Amino acid sequence: MSITGIGTDLVKIDRIQRLIHRYGERFTGKIFTLNEIAYCSKRAAPEVHFAGRFAAKEAIAKAAYQTGWMQVIPWRDIEVSSDDYGRPSVQLLTKIPGVCHVSISHDGEYALAFAIWETDHA
Ligand SMILES: CC(C)(COP(=O)(O)OP(=O)(O)OC[C@H]1O[C@@H](n2cnc3c(N)ncnc32)[C@H](O)[C@@H]1OP(=O)(O)O)[C@@H](O)C(=O)NCCC(=O)NCCS
Repeated sequence: MSITGIGTDLVKIDRIQRLIHRYGERFTGKIFTLNEIAYCSKRAAPEVHFAGRFAAKEAIAKAAYQTGWMQVIPWRDIEVSSDDYGRPSVQLLTKIPGVCHVSISHDGEYALAFAIWETDHA
């Protein structure tokens, strides 16, 4: 496996908060999977975690396009889930070759994500 794509994205949390207040489930349901909505909604400040996952999706898409992937990836085709320790991982409905890793951070006004794509070169 070798690294064939990297991507990063920075999101202002209050932008996501405004979209949630204005559009509610019309926004969250368009962008996030049911599992992501369940994870974020049960947190004390859901908008922080929605913003982190929003950044993650953008970072993952950037990393995928760097590998040479040419098709648009629908938002809900990317799912970021968390294990019992809080570690995020990526599940994709769009079958893009390789494996994607993601890291998320949030502090103050911003959420940030970084993604790496690894591809097996036969
Ligand atoms: C893991 C740790 C470094 C995260 O630091 P933090 O400052 O809380 O993290 P940030 O606020 O920058 O980012 C939060 C994001 O980090 C990610 N994260 C949380 N725990 C994580 C972990 N154990 N490993 C990797 N990423 C983790 C999540 O994506 C989280 O966002 P989300 O809940 O919206 O998905 C910190 O919680 C820690 O040191 N914990 C003690 C050690 C520990 O829990 N170890 C578990 C063994 S794996």
